[in-house]
Amino acid sequence: MNRLFIPILCIFASASVVGLVWDTPLVATLSTLGGGALGLLGWLLLDNWRATLLLAWLRRLQNAPNTPLPPQLSGVWRMTAERLLRLFRQQRQQENRLSLRLENIRDALHASPNGVIMLNGAGRIRWLNRSACQHFGLDGKRDIAQTVTHLLRDPLLVAYYTQRDFTHGITLDSPLATIARPLRLAVHIYPYSKKCLLILSRDITVIEQGEAIRRDFVANVSHELRTPLTVLAGFIETLQTLPLIEDERCDYLARMARHAARMQNLVGDLLALSRLEANPPPDLERWTPIKTLLAACAAEAYALAAVTAKTKGSAQHKLIFPAEAELDAEIAGSADELQSAFINLVSNAILYTPSGGHIEICWTPTPDGGATFAVQDSGPGIAPEHILRLTERFYRVDSSRSRESGGTGLGLSIVKHVLQRHDAKLKIDSTLGAGACFTAVFPAERVRRI
Ligand SMILES: Nc1ncnc2c1ncn2[C@@H]1O[C@H](COP(=O)(O)OP(=O)(O)OP(=O)(O)O)[C@@H](O)[C@H]1O
Ligand SMILES: [Mg+2]
Repeated sequence: MNRLFIPILCIFASASVVGLVWDTPLVATLSTLGGGALGLLGWLLLDNWRATLLLAWLRRLQNAPNTPLPPQLSGVWRMTAERLLRLFRQQRQQENRLSLRLENIRDALHASPNGVIMLNGAGRIRWLNRSACQHFGLDGKRDIAQTVTHLLRDPLLVAYYTQRDFTHGITLDSPLATIARPLRLAVHIYPYSKKCLLILSRDITVIEQGEAIRRDFVANVSHELRTPLTVLAGFIETLQTLPLIEDERCDYLARMARHAARMQNLVGDLLALSRLEANPPPDLERWTPIKTLLAACAAEAYALAAVTAKTKGSAQHKLIFPAEAELDAEIAGSADELQSAFINLVSNAILYTPSGGHIEICWTPTPDGGATFAVQDSGPGIAPEHILRLTERFYRVDSSRSRESGGTGLGLSIVKHVLQRHDAKLKIDSTLGAGACFTAVFPAERVRRI
């Protein structure tokens, strides 16, 4: 309004001053005033038109995605437009920076392996990340604004949510869990802001499975130790309390020695496993000729075959080792570990193949520059349902037969561990009644020709 009155007042004042100073007649004064008023009207219209242009531009500025250029104005209107444009650009930049930061936070939360669900005060989903979708089978778009208890119906979770005691978390099965693919979740709810809630979920399947494996392992070890210990205690009591003839005494002592050896084997295998787990990965720079490894393996295999034949009083196994000329390679890693793995495979073949059977050991270069070490026997073979589980600790196809031969069921898990440490894989092929073939497949970076 000031912009209207000030020019009018100025014009009137100047017209009166002109009238007084020059002592002009009334008509002249009136025409001066009329001229002033007309000039003012023209100025006002022009000013109004400029304001309208500026307002229209401001409206476009708010709605257009790009920044439209300001209208061609002059004087105070041009300065106003320029200042507004600067302010608007600063605000846009700040908005862009903020939304970029928000997007970064959102991306980081999506990348998190933990599930995050944000609820508003009414218990409706405001936002959730990808892991939460995978944990609870939710949809990141469809389920926004849905009431959480309509979607997550696990009674344990619903009770936890409705009781509002969030000092502790809960563990439950994911709604997506199946017997083949179990999925256990640890869920904790945290209140934040005004009545809002944050649901955090964590996949603890592997931790729980690890815990179960550890429990089974301890149970297995104690069972494996308890059996020979009970037998030993029984024999000791018999020797102490009963008058025995010399033959009986010798027989009992021989049995006791067998059980003591079994316990020794078990402790030895357990120590080997824990050493493998604790030791750093084998050195890639230490190369051992395959010839040396197979020579040591052959010496032990022939000795074991001879002892087995002698104790059973039956024909010796026929062992076929590759000719030296074929062993023109070196292997990188720990010679001791590799030797123990190779001997384990060959002794299994001897122990589980009936007397007189054939056992063939092969070293074959592969087209990709790697090589395979294979032990093929003519034994009874292994049924497919056992093959997948053979490398589990203490797993035996026929426990009584394996125990008889002094087996602890740890041999193949040691082999698998050793091979993994050398970036190699264990392949087991077998058909019931048609023998078994255990193959260690080494990658190119572990093998070199000499
Ligand atoms: N060549 C084979 N032919 C048939 N069955 C085999 C053969 N090798 C292994 N098995 C089966 O796999 C099981 C697991 O073998 P593994 O070497 O792990 O244990 P083990 O021989 O019983 O005991 P140890 O720890 O003393 O080696 C054996 O009990 C046996 O039933
Ligand atoms: Mg074995």
